[in-house]
Amino acid sequence: MNDLLNDLEKILFTEDDLKKRVRELGESISEDFKEDSAPILLVGILKGASFFLADLAREINLPTEIDFMSVSSYGRGKVKSTGVVKILKDLDEDIEGKNVIIVEDLIDSGLTLSYLRDMMVRRGAKRVKIATLLNKKAKRKKEVNIDYEGFEVPDDFIVGYGIDYSEKYRNLKVVGYLKKEIYSK
Ligand code: PRP
Ligand code: MN
Ligand code: MG
Repeated sequence: MNDLLNDLEKILFTEDDLKKRVRELGESISEDFKEDSAPILLVGILKGASFFLADLAREINLPTEIDFMSVSSYGRGKVKSTGVVKILKDLDEDIEGKNVIIVEDLIDSGLTLSYLRDMMVRRGAKRVKIATLLNKKAKRKKEVNIDYEGFEVPDDFIVGYGIDYSEKYRNLKVVGYLKKEIYSK
């Protein structure tokens, strides 16, 4: 069968779970920024964050701009562990004076995020916050302070709602574990 769902071992979060949690995160953001007249700018990190960003943005009831960045880690080994990232697509607009919320689908090592956070601060953002749908704490190499977190997840092969395995499964409406026979092929 060609049904994407058949490749899942187990569903971790259903469409309803995701919707409910994303709504709660949107409400927290709206509450935290309601007295702040600076604009909110959601910065999605391509490609994984695009689905979460689209849903989160619609749960915020304050003026909200969106932008995207595409990044990749520099090289392997030593260089990668420095957490310096190469910017493949930068932001379209200036962020000076804006309330930037960096939006991720999943945080693993945290290297990309901590680099990006520092960069946003250097560029003159008023406040810089981090929102992630999923948090894989076990993989953390660099501590990052997460302001808005959807769910904590174990260190397993997780796909769906933006998260891929070899570019596949991003378009699943649920988040789940991939069957072992799929990734050990
Ligand atoms: C994944 C995920 C995060 C990043 C987290 O993206 O979407 O962006 O890795 O890893 P880190 O915490 O170790 O930096 P990936 O690089 O696979 O690109 P994609 O979003 O296009 O799938
Ligand atoms: Mn990503
Ligand atoms: Mg990926």
